[in-house]
Order: sequence, then structure tokens, then C-alpha cells
Amino acid sequence: MELRKINTRDAYAQWEYTTTLPADENGLTNPYTGIAYDEYIEKALPTLISYEHPVDMPDWFVPETYYYLWDGDCLVGEFRIRHHLTETLKKGAGHIGYSIRKDKRGKGYGTAGLELTVQIAKEIVPEEEIYLRVNKDNIPSQKVMLNNGAYIIGEDMEHYFFRIKK
Ligand SMILES: CC(C)(COP(=O)(O)OP(=O)(O)OC[C@H]1O[C@@H](n2cnc3c(N)ncnc32)[C@H](O)[C@@H]1OP(=O)(O)O)[C@@H](O)C(=O)NCCC(=O)NCCS
Repeated sequence: MELRKINTRDAYAQWEYTTTLPADENGLTNPYTGIAYDEYIEKALPTLISYEHPVDMPDWFVPETYYYLWDGDCLVGEFRIRHHLTETLKKGAGHIGYSIRKDKRGKGYGTAGLELTVQIAKEIVPEEEIYLRVNKDNIPSQKVMLNNGAYIIGEDMEHYFFRIKK
């Protein structure tokens, strides 16, 4: 199993994943649901790649890198790392967002993918801990976090806030 940074070589598999990912699933958002392959190649892929080194983006936008989890030649999930936090991200989505293909869930990929992602995030983020947020009713994702040593630091009406020590 490996995490591969978003790239042009894997465009077709990345497009298949992105176009079928819901617009909002448990707070993980995707503006490209249903996108055609041509439009993905021309617009979405260059945009998503550029997020690592943003140009002409609003002040609130922090660098973000997309990674895909591969098991052999199968792309099984997506993991996003935001490189540092703003006040909004601290109280909000934190450093990492992720999802696993619907037909591959419950097989340990979420847990394994977050482990690999946290290894990378530990090298990137300046904060002392990795910040994560999860909906209170999203038990699988809470387990993925707990399996990776996360602990609860707080909550609001809808979410738990977790952290993983560096
Ligand atoms: C959350 C998500 C990434 C989990 O991925 P996954 O590959 O199924 O995770 P794992 O297989 O590592 O399972 C983690 C735990 O959740 C449990 N689990 C998985 N699916 C479950 C389900 N539908 N109901 C109850 N428990 C479930 C597993 O049994 C496992 O439990 P264990 O730690 O006791 O063994 C996946 O469900 C997903 O993509 N959800 C939609 C997007 C999302 O919610 N992202 C997270 C936003 S914070």
C-alpha cells in the first residue's frame, strides 16, 4: 500500500475517484462530483495540483496537498493535508481530510491511509499536534482516528475535535 501525491500520470484513476465522490459526505466536500474527464484534465486537475503552491488564492487559503492511497493498481482513497492552520481551521476542519471508496470501506484502508498521511503531515505542519475534526455520528471515522492514536480535545454541537501528537 502506498500514498501517491496527485499527479498527471494517474489522471484517469484520480478522475474516476473524484467524479464519484459525493459533494459532501460527513463534511468532506468535493466541488467536482460528476465532472467529465475532459474538464477534469483541463481545469480540476491543474487546480488541485496548484493547491500545494497556491497562486492568486484568497488570504484564507492555506497550501493543501492531495494524496491517493493505492493498493497495488487500485486507487482506494484520497487523503488531503492542509500544511498549516488558520484560526478558522483550528476551530474547524483541521489538517487532514479523507475518504475511502465506497466498495472498499471496512477493510482497514482508512486506518492504514491515515497512518501513512500522518507520517507525511508530521514533516509538514508547524503545529505541535495534528488537528482533526469528525462528525459525532461518524463512528467509522472516529475509529480511524482512534486507531491512529488520536485523542479527543473538545466538541461542539455536531463534531468531536481530535488531535494526534507529533
Ligand atoms: C470514514 C472512512 C474513511 C473509514 O474508512 P474505512 O476504510 O472504512 O476504515 P477502516 O476499514 O479502517 O475501519 C475503521 C473502523 O471503522 C469500522 N467501520 C467501518 N465501516 C463501518 C460502518 N459502516 N459501520 C460501523 N463501523 C464501521 C471498522 O470496523 C473499523 O473498526 P475497528 O477499528 O474496530 O476495526 C470511510 O467510511 C469514508 O470514506 N467515509 C466517507 C467520508 C468520511 O466520512 N470521511 C471522514 C470525514 S472526518
